[in-house]
Amino acid sequence: MSEWVERDRINVWHPFSQHATAGDPLPVVRAEGTLLYDDQGKSYIDANSSWWVNVHGHGHPAIGKAIRKQFDQLDHVIFANVTHPQAIELAERLTAKLPEHLTKVFFSDNGSTAAEVALKMCFQYWYNKDEERPLVMTLEGAYHGDTFGAMSVGERDRFNKPFEPYFFEAEYLEFPTIEKEKALLTKAEERFASGQFAALIVEPIIQGASGMRIYSVSFLDALVKIARKYDVLVIFDEVMTGFGRTGTLFAMDQCAEKPDLILLSKGLTAGVLPMGLTITTNAIFNTFLSEKTERGFLHGHSYTGNPLACAVANASLDLFEDQITWDRIKQLKHWNTEASEQLEKIPNVVNLRVCGTILAFEVNTSDRVGYFSGIRNEAYRFALKNGVLLRPLGNTIFINPPYCITKEEYDHVIKVISAFLQSLLK
Ligand SMILES: Cc1ncc(COP(=O)(O)O)c(C=O)c1O
Repeated sequence: MSEWVERDRINVWHPFSQHATAGDPLPVVRAEGTLLYDDQGKSYIDANSSWWVNVHGHGHPAIGKAIRKQFDQLDHVIFANVTHPQAIELAERLTAKLPEHLTKVFFSDNGSTAAEVALKMCFQYWYNKDEERPLVMTLEGAYHGDTFGAMSVGERDRFNKPFEPYFFEAEYLEFPTIEKEKALLTKAEERFASGQFAALIVEPIIQGASGMRIYSVSFLDALVKIARKYDVLVIFDEVMTGFGRTGTLFAMDQCAEKPDLILLSKGLTAGVLPMGLTITTNAIFNTFLSEKTERGFLHGHSYTGNPLACAVANASLDLFEDQITWDRIKQLKHWNTEASEQLEKIPNVVNLRVCGTILAFEVNTSDRVGYFSGIRNEAYRFALKNGVLLRPLGNTIFINPPYCITKEEYDHVIKVISAFLQSLLK
């Protein structure tokens, strides 16, 4: 066993892991482009972009340069009543890319905190307006993070069972498959008409953690319109979908109806430093203005607006302003379409789908389906042995690699996945 693994086992507790069965962690000591290298020098293609965060590839020189330059200038500073150029520049640049009404940027540390902040803002918005609106509408299968607010509006399943007594109330719309759309819109209208809803929160167009599940833009547009009719605040969680993942900079660029708040993280800082953003409107911001301190949004984190993370996000935005990034996104989408035609021919592949840079399907299995399917571990181990780091969601296998993946690397990933599927047929 590697020395790193031995030492890891003594003192490290890993996220989303059942240590009794997970097996040894992969000791990664170096990374470059799409490749991760273990302590023996073996390389692995980072096919899920290290938990969907890495968009431009590891060790991008422009990002490294930005961190070094910023470190020499200003490493960190409190962000309460203090500001700095990188945060201002980032807020200006992002809001310029968003619909005009999204103007105010609140900084936090990750996707969960971005969700937590949005929910707190919505609840306090109604509180400041002296209106009681205790409920939030969400979709079945939602995932918005692991803090209590985020869990309260996420799918209630075996993941968060121990915490359920502590969640606030949320209502769930079934996942909007085409057949159910009409009935769900009727139900949403009935429920929103009660005047009880503070907010609606959705992952636009595609739900990530519940298995890369795509639903229609027209449903989302109709749902948002109904929410608007009853003044329900609309939150788009673009933590996973943001920064090119669905083929456009934001998923909402494909929608006619825009939200009141959006959440960004993951690709925001190109998978290099942690940061989350909650971006909202002047209308919401203005309800927090008062002579009374307690009407303000009294929330913050020690590392709020960290200048190094802001510098990385700005450097990443520079890369998104370079046509080459969009050519790569387009190419990846094209490769996904080609690969899906190939994978479709394998008999145990079902429900193949492509959403921009994401390719996903379910493995038809007699084993348990869903997140706890045994296929997950089998696929993970098979891929790892063959130089690909995959993290399937149960029997849902998907890829969402860094946009700089080469054709050769991409073909290798598809070859390994195909070989895995074929091995199950034997
Ligand atoms: C849509 C969505 N929201 C929120 C989160 C939580 O982000 P984080 O893991 O950075 O807390 C995730 C993470 O996968 C996500 O996919």
